[in-house]
Amino acid sequence: MPYAGGYQSQVFAAGGSPFPFTVQGLEDAAREKLPAPHFDYIAGGAGRERTVAANVDAFARWGLNYRILRDGKPGVPSYTVLDTPMAMPVLLAPAGVADLAHPEAERAAARAAADTGVVQVLSSATSTALEDVAEAAPEGRRWFQFAWPDDEKLARSLIDRAENAGYSAIVLQGDCHVAGWRTRELDSAFFPFQRAHGMGNYLSDRRFRELAVMGPRPARGAALDPAEVVAAAATWNRLYTRPALHPGDLALLRAWTDLPVIVKGVCRPDEATLLADAGADALIVSNHGGRQLDSGLAALDCLPGVVAAVGGRVPVLFDSGIRTGTDVLIALALGASAVMIGRPWLYGLAIGGQEGVTHVLRCLEAEFTGALALTGHRDPATLSPADLTPVTTPSNRRAR
Ligand code: FNR
Repeated sequence: MPYAGGYQSQVFAAGGSPFPFTVQGLEDAAREKLPAPHFDYIAGGAGRERTVAANVDAFARWGLNYRILRDGKPGVPSYTVLDTPMAMPVLLAPAGVADLAHPEAERAAARAAADTGVVQVLSSATSTALEDVAEAAPEGRRWFQFAWPDDEKLARSLIDRAENAGYSAIVLQGDCHVAGWRTRELDSAFFPFQRAHGMGNYLSDRRFRELAVMGPRPARGAALDPAEVVAAAATWNRLYTRPALHPGDLALLRAWTDLPVIVKGVCRPDEATLLADAGADALIVSNHGGRQLDSGLAALDCLPGVVAAVGGRVPVLFDSGIRTGTDVLIALALGASAVMIGRPWLYGLAIGGQEGVTHVLRCLEAEFTGALALTGHRDPATLSPADLTPVTTPSNRRAR
């Protein structure tokens, strides 16, 4: 009986791992490691966090159909979405201010992603400039999540920089036209951007510095003086992001870049149709991990409708609530081409930097690969709703 992905064998051979394997263990370890406001910024969501909970709970309403007397040997070794090869259909979701979790932030995540063959989707609001992240793992594959700033020159500068630094797709953030009501942030009065966290791409941008009336970019790693923090935070608040975006704006983005354009944050079938008509190359069903709108639908419940509306015209990716390899399987069976994880990689980063992120990805890979074989598949592309049975009274509800 082989261990899928090989990670189990390695863990047993090494006599264990410094990192936890359960979902709850990972979150608890991150909570223990981080200052409370930092942990709360990462873990928290909008309002009462009902959407955050719904995202996770939605997976327990599906049971995977188990199949026996099958071939357990490794199947398809890699996967491709929009011409980007990936070792498994899991990407690192864009998450700003990763330096709240670990000083090596996105660079550590870039190395972990490159080591595991996973695509890193880099946020606009990173702690580190996008060029420096690319340089940290030149062999890695990466897409750039574009938060469209309310200044055209800055917008074009970010896109050009991403393209020049080797990012191979633009992921347009569609769901941040207004800030979510994030109660944990309010309780701790901690808003990272007010302290110039998450501005790596802006502080390194000539146009941003011009708008903030700041001097030329200082040497890498040089600290900002307090007046610069105030100027940068005020300018960032004013420009991040354009308050109004429409499907028609995709045409402008297309005129600026030849890279594929993916829209993130789609939850409604009618909007999915409009975006596919407007020329989006792919969509990401996501509710931002429940960080924007409370009392929202679970993202997973939005996935089948969007997949049906798009009708195979463009790939549909998914995030919000993925915690395990079997969650990946469920989302793929419901029609996702690939999924992204947000908080799990940040927790891994918090507890072990690059190694912690690698651990999270290897756990997902091993569990996903094993579950794929146990449901009778050798290739994720053959998963379908026939692999699922709706569970009306979930007995498997509480994730550990
Ligand atoms: C995010 N997310 C996010 N999304 C985005 O498009 N741009 C961003 O800058 C950020 N920043 C960010 C910070 C933090 C701390 C978190 C946790 C999340 C949302 C992210 O891309 C993704 O949609 C969710 O995290 C997915 O949900 P899970 O996996 O966290 O449940």
